Amino acid sequence: MHGSGAMRLKYKVALVTGAGRGLGHAIAGQFAREGAHVFCCDVDESAAWACAEQILAEGGSAAAIAIDVADRAAIPAMAAQALAEQGQVDIVCNNAGVLDDFRPAADTDDALWDRVLAINLTAPFLISRAFIPSMLENGGGTFVNLASMAGLIAQAGGTAYTVSKHGVIGLTRQISADYGQRGIRANAICPGSIDTAMSRDFLKDAPEVQAIVDSVPAGRMGRPEEIAELATYLASDSSGFIHGAAMVIDGGWTIR
Ligand SMILES: NC(=O)c1ccc[n+]([C@@H]2O[C@H](COP(=O)([O-])OP(=O)(O)OC[C@H]3O[C@@H](n4cnc5c(N)ncnc54)[C@H](O)[C@@H]3O)[C@@H](O)[C@H]2O)c1
Repeated sequence: MHGSGAMRLKYKVALVTGAGRGLGHAIAGQFAREGAHVFCCDVDESAAWACAEQILAEGGSAAAIAIDVADRAAIPAMAAQALAEQGQVDIVCNNAGVLDDFRPAADTDDALWDRVLAINLTAPFLISRAFIPSMLENGGGTFVNLASMAGLIAQAGGTAYTVSKHGVIGLTRQISADYGQRGIRANAICPGSIDTAMSRDFLKDAPEVQAIVDSVPAGRMGRPEEIAELATYLASDSSGFIHGAAMVIDGGWTIR
């Protein structure tokens, strides 16, 4: 698997949260095929290990870390483990995220708000904070943050999800502004509807949204591999002039 062509992430170390399934799983696999050592992190420990073992079975380099990114104390420990094992982490993909059942503000209780914000926004902040110092020491690094089209428009999620994803774009821009000249790039990906367990869970109860999905210019849902390809580009030196972007990959959903 690692024998051919120019691998875009050779000699890099990457960490991907939510790598147990869906977009994170696809991103971790693609990063590994491009030559990176990948830490596959997930709250589902067996899924995290399954991701790492699949990479190893394909000839790549990976390890798993079980972590609930909503657990504040676990984040410095995760960073310390990754840095101790590999000496550096060049690429961090903040991907783990949860939906909010599309609840409007009046139907969003404290527990839902706290959970969605903790996983979708506070964790990417804490993870960024944990890795920035070592990236600065190593001369740079790259953050690839999974936002959403809900980070740009309303009604692609409920209140907590939409606020969290707008926040992810703000976090991405601020990190770029503060650290870009010292070698750190941060970019966000704003997917539309991509075919993963998260979207299937939601769409099975939402025929009206399925109708919108079917009517986008692309005429279909996106594939996880398509997000992984963009994530790889943003993680690689090929995208060196892209700082603080919120890149839309939605089959045309948001143009209308
Ligand atoms: N699928 C889509 O259509 C879509 C669209 C826009 C944005 N996104 C975003 O992309 C990201 C990935 O989405 P997906 O569709 O792959 O979701 P998914 O639900 O299929 O997978 C999410 C993964 O994150 C893990 N995870 C959840 N909570 C966690 C926690 N507290 N700590 C650690 N790991 C945790 C889960 O165990 C799972 O493996 C999310 O941030 C999501 O908001 C997805």
